[in-house]
Amino acid sequence: MSTRRRELDLFGAFVARTLGLHFDESRASQLEEALLRRAGDAGYPDAGAYLAALSSSDSREEARAIAELLTVGETYFFRNSEQFRALAEVALPARAAAGASSVRILSAGCASGEEPYTISIIAREAAAPLILHAMDVNPAAIARARRAVYSPWSLRETTGEMKQRYFRPAGKDFRLADEIRREVHFDEANLAQDDPRFWRPASWDIIFCRNVIMYFRPETQKAVVARLAASLVPGGFLFLGHAETLRGLSQDFHLCQSHDTFYYQLRERGTDPEPAAARFTDESPARALALASALEDGAPSWMEAIRSASERIASLSGASHETADAQRQRSAGRERERILELVGREKFGEALEALSGLPGAAEADADTGLMKAALLVNAGNPREAERVCAAVLKADDLSAGAHYVMAQCREAAGDGAGAAEHDRAAAYLDPTFAMPRLHLGLLLRKAGDAAGAIEQFQGAFALLPAEDASRLLLFGGGFGREALMQLCQAETKACEGRKA
Ligand SMILES: C[S@@+](CC[C@H](N)C(=O)[O-])C[C@H]1O[C@@H](n2cnc3c(N)ncnc32)[C@H](O)[C@@H]1O
Repeated sequence: MSTRRRELDLFGAFVARTLGLHFDESRASQLEEALLRRAGDAGYPDAGAYLAALSSSDSREEARAIAELLTVGETYFFRNSEQFRALAEVALPARAAAGASSVRILSAGCASGEEPYTISIIAREAAAPLILHAMDVNPAAIARARRAVYSPWSLRETTGEMKQRYFRPAGKDFRLADEIRREVHFDEANLAQDDPRFWRPASWDIIFCRNVIMYFRPETQKAVVARLAASLVPGGFLFLGHAETLRGLSQDFHLCQSHDTFYYQLRERGTDPEPAAARFTDESPARALALASALEDGAPSWMEAIRSASERIASLSGASHETADAQRQRSAGRERERILELVGREKFGEALEALSGLPGAAEADADTGLMKAALLVNAGNPREAERVCAAVLKADDLSAGAHYVMAQCREAAGDGAGAAEHDRAAAYLDPTFAMPRLHLGLLLRKAGDAAGAIEQFQGAFALLPAEDASRLLLFGGGFGREALMQLCQAETKACEGRKA
């Protein structure tokens, strides 16, 4: 290993530990630039000397300086405006109805302030009283936020009316109105570290943490989401960036879908089907399944994921003191594997029979339920499939597979709009999942939306080559990869013909 490689590994580890940020190979040059810049600015002759001193220096101060170089501060007013409509029309009224006299909102990773100020504008327009805090790890961004002077580029999605009402020209730029500026309390803080100012239980009604966790390492993502969940009131809302999901990170939230966007609501403990502690365990097969299906080529197959999850549960419980529950899950895992093999041999009836033969408790398992629902759809029994699928979603409504099967059930019930919603949820929760896009394309084509359908067919076509083989078996409606890809192409052509 070259010296520079070793230096970058050390620096990357420091950045991950202190800021939670992850830099893969594609961003190595950015990491190297920051390393050399920090070494120079701090007065060291070279990167090696700087790194040698790093362990004995005040890591908090150094992390602040590095945050200025390595964080991505892209943001603008009214970014993903659908989410602000959902805030005004769903989240704020829901929290007010739940008895919050002033709704407490946190913008976590607020960058230069455009996001919390937009929230403040939205709340003023809705006449909703707020307590609004915002935090970011980058001190320069917090200073810009406090200054509240913005370039036209920051206002590129701001309507003329909003500009006129809440901004005053300041040379080439725009100064935010004082009544909005005063509403937001800014702090410099690090999401990757515990901080009693922000993370006390039930501190917030609503948290915006958009386009932040996507830059974190998976362990940090989980820890940060757990922190956000603990600091929200039950029934509180969490808004992530439009390409970020909680799938595989937490089961403490319901998925909400409105205004053409997705967001989350913390489950209300008392009314949940099972206690929170049982819902959020790394060992759940659903989690292993979710993670495995998100992995790329060379990743374990779905079947392997099921097997390893079952084995992990067994080993965690201790072979000799295996609990009844662990035994049940292990044998259900083995049975699911066998059933998937039957599906592979197109023995759908036998597969369904084998599933029905599982003990009652095993049927309640989310993976088994999902498999059963998929097989019932294949067997032409969408009503029963919907009943099973609804139970799976009640326990885990971040299951992309269950949303996809539910979409098929809704379509069979003549509810095209409901079907499309579930397909969109499945595609959002698992951006690598081809089938909901293909199904949504077919629904849109039927509804006469040729352009929308083409977008979905092309999306499915691009994903199909890497789609997990066992997921294709279970959800592909009896078609193989090649056949599904040809279907996408033929449907695209047909829609193009219709558009012309
Ligand atoms: C892309 S911006 C997102 C801004 C805004 N939330 C939005 O979506 O428009 C990401 C922000 O997250 C901040 N950030 C990154 N790591 C952080 C950490 N460990 N703690 C707090 N903020 C962090 C960055 O400094 C940056 O300002």
